[in-house]
Amino acid sequence: MTGDSTKSVHGGERLDPQTGSLTVPIYETSTFGFSKAEDVPVAVAGSGEKGYTYSRWDNPTVVTLEKKLALFERGGAGAAFSSGMAAITTTIFASLKKGAHVLAIRDLYGGTFGLLHDILPELGFDTDLVDTTDHGALERGMKKSTSIVYIESPTNPTLKVVDIANVAKLAHSSGALLLVDNTFASPINQNPIDLGADVVLHSATKYLNGHADLIAGAAVASKGSIQKIKMMRRDFGGTLDPIPAWLILRGMKTMAVRVRQQNANAMALAEFLSKHRKVEAVHYPGLRDHPQHLLAKKQMRGFGGMLSFVIKGTTRDAMRFTESVKVATLAASLGGVETLVSQPYNMTHTQMSAKERAKTGIPDTLVRVSVGIEDLDDLIGDFRQALAA
Ligand SMILES: Cc1ncc(COP(=O)(O)O)c(C=O)c1O
Repeated sequence: MTGDSTKSVHGGERLDPQTGSLTVPIYETSTFGFSKAEDVPVAVAGSGEKGYTYSRWDNPTVVTLEKKLALFERGGAGAAFSSGMAAITTTIFASLKKGAHVLAIRDLYGGTFGLLHDILPELGFDTDLVDTTDHGALERGMKKSTSIVYIESPTNPTLKVVDIANVAKLAHSSGALLLVDNTFASPINQNPIDLGADVVLHSATKYLNGHADLIAGAAVASKGSIQKIKMMRRDFGGTLDPIPAWLILRGMKTMAVRVRQQNANAMALAEFLSKHRKVEAVHYPGLRDHPQHLLAKKQMRGFGGMLSFVIKGTTRDAMRFTESVKVATLAASLGGVETLVSQPYNMTHTQMSAKERAKTGIPDTLVRVSVGIEDLDDLIGDFRQALAA
């Protein structure tokens, strides 16, 4: 099974051995009963198919999703979480050591930025956030105690592209792990493990599920790392419930067709915006004048459905644009079939101070767009009339 569409439909799934059910049953149960005490499995998270004990540790519907996630992100195993932030925090804590230093890029999702910039230092961990596209800054930032290097690519909401293979080499040369948030790209466009990453993270709320109707997260890594992450998940408690797991399994069946349509729509919309007189700048890795366009071409199979652009004018003008769209909706989040627009400064990146946002290239006039699968003419028509407003 090599094609993304075939994998989307069939990957990680099989007929239910008991009933032949084509789709995976929803095992909506908190616990599993036994008639013989000696059948009770040694209760460790990740023992999964050897026997289930309690759904915070493992659940058959969730385990099926985890197999599909591992297949798509090309790792040995996967772990599903109750949110992207649960996946990120649990994985970081599972990878931390006493006295550890964490090195990350500055362009991060607001929640991750808050964790690395504020929470970990408050708990006594040494963290540094450096300029995203300056590999030399990452090199200089490495310490003997660095145990985690953390990146996103493309970044939220600035769409900068980081050289994953190069950062993997740098992390491994000092014995650190490379964690990559692959939410913006989706596994259809990019597989960080193939480029040397140790753990891939997702807000499964986004492209994996694709329908803006649940919150979930995912981590994919080697079997050994996922076992460790699942032990942490068992005790931190951010496990995913079987019903959203089942919905993601359903959503993933159309992931390849959705994402290809989103790639094509985003490319066309980026080109339209870059020629518009009311637009100051467009950030989209598919545009030839994007500073890391060649790198994106090298490490991605598609440029993704996310873009952002700076409106010529005031914050109020940008607000007027987001209020004027009719096909698109003013809302946070991304990766669903519907086009969403938002201003990061007051929605997704409030954990960053105005000074940090300015340093990262997030002016108040920046509009982030999650491009959906609508007909392109409708989308361009909508953006044209909203810009005119
Ligand atoms: C790149 C990225 N990572 C992580 C998250 C957090 O995911 P969740 O909202 O599912 O917790 C988000 C949310 O928007 C995101 O955009």
